[in-house]
Amino acid sequence: MIQTLAISGYRSIRDTVLQLHGLDVVTGANGTGKSNLYRALRLLASAGDGDVVGSLARDGGLSSTLWAGPEHVSRAMVDGSVPVQGTRRSGPISLRLGFATDTLGYLIDLGIPQPSTTLFGRDPEIKLEQIFAGALAKPSSLLVDRHGPAVRVRDGSWRPIGRTLGTSESILTEFSDADATPEVLRVRGQVRGWRFYDQFRTDRDAPARAPQVGTRTPVLGHDGADLAAAVQTIIESGGRDRLDAAVDDAFPGSVLRVRADDGVFRLELEQPGMLRPLSAGELSDGTLRYLLLVAALLTPRPPELMVLNEPETSLHGDLLPQLARLITAASADTQLVVVSHARPLIEAMLEAGEVHEHRLVKRLGETTVEDQGLLSTPPWAWPSR
Ligand SMILES: Nc1ncnc2c1ncn2[C@@H]1O[C@H](COP(=O)(O)OP(=O)(O)OP(=O)(O)O)[C@@H](O)[C@H]1O
Ligand SMILES: [Mg+2]
Repeated sequence: MIQTLAISGYRSIRDTVLQLHGLDVVTGANGTGKSNLYRALRLLASAGDGDVVGSLARDGGLSSTLWAGPEHVSRAMVDGSVPVQGTRRSGPISLRLGFATDTLGYLIDLGIPQPSTTLFGRDPEIKLEQIFAGALAKPSSLLVDRHGPAVRVRDGSWRPIGRTLGTSESILTEFSDADATPEVLRVRGQVRGWRFYDQFRTDRDAPARAPQVGTRTPVLGHDGADLAAAVQTIIESGGRDRLDAAVDDAFPGSVLRVRADDGVFRLELEQPGMLRPLSAGELSDGTLRYLLLVAALLTPRPPELMVLNEPETSLHGDLLPQLARLITAASADTQLVVVSHARPLIEAMLEAGEVHEHRLVKRLGETTVEDQGLLSTPPWAWPSR
């Protein structure tokens, strides 16, 4: 299980460390940085696909994603006795992301090139990456250590890796298996398995509404286009009862079915009072979104981590307790982080199971975690470059 999540220099998140517990809800008012946290996690996950620099560029590049406030926020700035002002930088420009389980951790530090070495002066570069044993990166716990192009691994003593890495290449994808320690493969496998769901489309032309050629689908796609196949995979993997219960909980008396014509799958919802079942194309936005969340959460192949961004969007308040039950039940098989500002959803989750709430607040433009002081902040160490 991921126990610690650390983000530094990403948009409104100047420096935040979160302790995770298995089922964590991130809440906060509009603009407090919930989506920033979600996006930072996605960025971290993209390191596992070797695409962290590309993702960052698509996200607006370092110039837009870097924390736009001063490097240090003093007490006097907070109480308003001096204006917020930048001072001479003491550290390099840096966007840092990391996580740790109880046995293994990974962190990455992204920055910009040394001035005048290249015309691509705003291109993000991977400056540093580390894999470490335990919850904290420190010299004694390091297993893999990358500074710029040079990588060394520790098996017994430190061994340099013969080849050097390009500025956008990550140790997670660029190591040949012979070079790698088992820890690299473990971190890579872990990060690649993280699953993110954000705002399924449910408009008239949404992919989830169209019939689709069905292939076995243990993992619902991000756009929900393979919804019918994912539902059928749940059914054929022994999940019929859980599926029926989740649908009946939300829409009493209704049953979800999948029809296949010549390999093309169609989703249908039988509802009380209807002479014929309604197809996915005919369902309301909220109904379809709920069914998408059911298919995502009842996956026959639970990931190590699933992250849901504002799953309550377009659901009526009446459906939030059911969604809360669905999420808490899924958290028995998978670690979940839910970003939400729907109070009724959070209340229902708190009622249904063991949930930890992290309230984000904004202070001088900076995202902070409410009630987190020096002593209650989980330990985390960023190495220097
Ligand atoms: N580079 C940056 N540096 C500092 N702050 C930034 C930067 N980029 C965006 N922000 C701030 O981050 C905030 C947006 O945060 P985010 O989108 O995560 O909010 P949210 O909690 O998801 O809000 P909502 O509930 O409205 O979706 C904005 O207030 C914006 O000013
Ligand atoms: Mg948001």
